[in-house]
Amino acid sequence: EARPGKSILGKHYPSDETTNVTDTILSLVGRKLYDTPNHPIAITRRLIESVFPPPLYKNHVATNPVVTVHANFDVLGFPQDHPGRSRTDTYYVDSSTVLRTHTSAHQHSAFQRIAVDAENGYTICADVYRRDSIDRSHFPVFHQMEGACTWQLPPKKQSKETRLQQQQRRAQSIRESIDALPKHGLEIIDEAGSYNNHTNPVQIQHDPDDSQLLVEHLKRSLEQLVQKVFTAAQEARPDQKQEQLKVRWIEAYFPFTSPSFELEVFWQGEWLELLGCGVVQQSILNNAGLEDRIGWAWGIGIERLAMLLFNVPDIRLFWSQDDRFLKQFQDGKITRFESFSRYPPCYKDISFWVRPSPAGASPIGAESSSGVAAAAGGDSKKASPSETQPAAFHENDIMEIVRDVAGTLVEDVKLVDEFVHPKNGKKSLCYRINYRSNERTLTNEEVNELHQKVVDKMGELPVEIR
Ligand code: PHE
Repeated sequence: EARPGKSILGKHYPSDETTNVTDTILSLVGRKLYDTPNHPIAITRRLIESVFPPPLYKNHVATNPVVTVHANFDVLGFPQDHPGRSRTDTYYVDSSTVLRTHTSAHQHSAFQRIAVDAENGYTICADVYRRDSIDRSHFPVFHQMEGACTWQLPPKKQSKETRLQQQQRRAQSIRESIDALPKHGLEIIDEAGSYNNHTNPVQIQHDPDDSQLLVEHLKRSLEQLVQKVFTAAQEARPDQKQEQLKVRWIEAYFPFTSPSFELEVFWQGEWLELLGCGVVQQSILNNAGLEDRIGWAWGIGIERLAMLLFNVPDIRLFWSQDDRFLKQFQDGKITRFESFSRYPPCYKDISFWVRPSPAGASPIGAESSSGVAAAAGGDSKKASPSETQPAAFHENDIMEIVRDVAGTLVEDVKLVDEFVHPKNGKKSLCYRINYRSNERTLTNEEVNELHQKVVDKMGELPVEIR
């Protein structure tokens, strides 16, 4: 008799006390939207790959989302208490295995392949998984793409050379690659060029000149990406006046790069965070057998970008099998999505008491920011309760119940009321669930049934339904 567990892509994983991945989530594994012809996720992937093509970059996909905690967090230098590791944020298959929360889980093996095949760089496209809030831009499964490039530097010491000659010789190969990049017409509003050497330092193992050249190559390469995809998107909107595209760089933090940056693009009147990137921590390259190389890496959320490019208003649409959605996209083209009719929303409230949470734990109604390239890296969410503390209510747990019951039939879940009882000090929360399909009108019975299931399942949480 099989032990209770989960079957993922044909392999059985016995469950343990850490397992929190649900069958609803697992039913989405293996859809390969990035490989589906004429799908906006695949179109966006191809566009990005066209900016980072072979032979310099090897373009990979990583089909199996099951990775070790080691690959997803440890090798990348995530501290033990990083909130990204907690069961409220991450889907655990068992205590040492997760559904990857980002493509960086494959950095180590991709760098190892570079060491063997003597390549320079790579891109990886993959589905990634995060427990998170529910709204029109967050879905527990989404796609990321990651890229990296490395350079072999000549050894530092060579007799009879002056320091200047040495530096020039070392810089030459990176300088040549920068010069080889096509020129673009973007306006760069801020370079974040004089970044803070305390909070965003050049790594001590790195020659500051090498590191700076690498940053320059990184930035110019990613500006190509903006130029290519956003120009194509502007061309899909001939009715609107074409403005010069603007980008800006800001300092960022990721455990696995330093210095680190984010790229923002000015699009339809707003500055939008597009991606995270930086100079790869040398220890990661060394661990993969690339002691003689330095390199950069970036990561981007595909849905976020595709929503902007194709004018897709709701992230659930990417999972739609409806021809009214699918028929609007064509390989190699950025087209403007025309929304089909919206169906009526159906709001249901759920109110409950929670026991006071331990100090510093359980963000409730906290702004979460995943779905964007940066989230698993270094955002400043408060640490979640560790396994040893008594279970406290975490907002992601109600989100997960609603996801499990309603799947793509829920549009958003919002905290609408919160108060503390003056006498007993207990806290009351009220969440409003908006049940709405993108494809049809939901019936009253159907919604009542879904909602009753949500209410019943809330019994699994440390809450008291009012
Ligand atoms: N993996 C990071 C994230 O998901 C993005 C990233 C990739 C940042 C590579 C820097 C370098 O947030």
